[in-house]
Amino acid sequence: MLSLSRCNNINDLRSLAKRRLPRSMFHYIDGGADDEVTLRRNTDAFEDYEIQPRFLRPVDEIDTTVTLFGKKLDVPFFIAPTGMSRLFHHTKENAVARAAAKFGTAYSLSTLGTASLEKIAEETEGPKMFQIYILKDRELTREFVERCKAANYDALCLTVDVPLAGNRERDKVTGMTMPPRFTMKSFFSFFIHPNWSFNFLLHPDFRLANVVHRVDALGKGAMGLIEYVNSQFDRTVTWDDASRLIQQWGGPFVIKGVLTSEDAKRAREIGATALMISNHGGRQMDGVPAAIDCLEPIRDAVGSDMELILDGGIRRGTHMLKALALGANAVSIGKAYLYGLAAGGQKGVELVLQILKNELERDMALMGCGTIQELSKEYVKHRYNRSIP
Ligand code: GLV
Repeated sequence: MLSLSRCNNINDLRSLAKRRLPRSMFHYIDGGADDEVTLRRNTDAFEDYEIQPRFLRPVDEIDTTVTLFGKKLDVPFFIAPTGMSRLFHHTKENAVARAAAKFGTAYSLSTLGTASLEKIAEETEGPKMFQIYILKDRELTREFVERCKAANYDALCLTVDVPLAGNRERDKVTGMTMPPRFTMKSFFSFFIHPNWSFNFLLHPDFRLANVVHRVDALGKGAMGLIEYVNSQFDRTVTWDDASRLIQQWGGPFVIKGVLTSEDAKRAREIGATALMISNHGGRQMDGVPAAIDCLEPIRDAVGSDMELILDGGIRRGTHMLKALALGANAVSIGKAYLYGLAAGGQKGVELVLQILKNELERDMALMGCGTIQELSKEYVKHRYNRSIP
């Protein structure tokens, strides 16, 4: 029987999450848009890059630290912003933030989080970022900036790839809603996952804690994420809005969802200090490239100063090393940590972080790199561009 102690890798944790969660919750985490081509490519594309190890170098000491947003991280990976953790475990965002701090890394809280940004700030000493979606209620955006300043957040992040929700067909099939609706259709799935169902019913209500005081769309009843996003998100957001937000914040600012060199250069021009190269885990536009395939051209376009975070498809230490070698300053994980949260709350997230850290340290030694800073393009070759000796 699979349990946390028998999970050797992220894929095992995915299997355990699948077993522990009602169907609609699991597929909400696991799924992507349309035919899920981009979702699959995000991970598969790492295989197109091959590591070029160097031997006979001292690797008795491995240093995995990096600097991001002016903060030292003990590992080059951190928690990406993802919504509604309460759906997957009753200990929700608070548990994830505690796990991240234990590993000396950053936690990002989503606008659609189920814990308030103030509570997360109280909960963790670790570096933290707040992710903003601009909703039709623009006052909320101004309020976020002030609240994040008051709560000492280290960075703000604006997600730009959700003018409207992607076409997530798994959610339509399973009838996923927030909060979950106990209907005839979903009853069986909740019934065969009694632990999750009891915990869901016995712990405090599901609330979109950062927005509910101004936007209480769910007060009228449960709804699908697609419905929520399409009714509340502002589709008129432009670069001028991003620029104003950067001025208002005045600190480290990340634009999340950039995939082209043109947008990357535009972001740099308006004063963004970092980019998350991301296709939203394959959940928005299907058919866009894997995140890793966008990294090298964007690094070439923006130069060496801008911080780049690779977000998408990471399941292994080797995936991180390939991204770091191709120019990322750090990488972020979304689905990978959510599997851990669903599989075992804080312990499950810690296991994910530990597995990734162990893999990273072992792989750095195997490739002959004692520090992340030593990594460069020389350590990775695209298998179709390999020069023939
Ligand atoms: C929310 O941002 C989601 O991708 O579900």
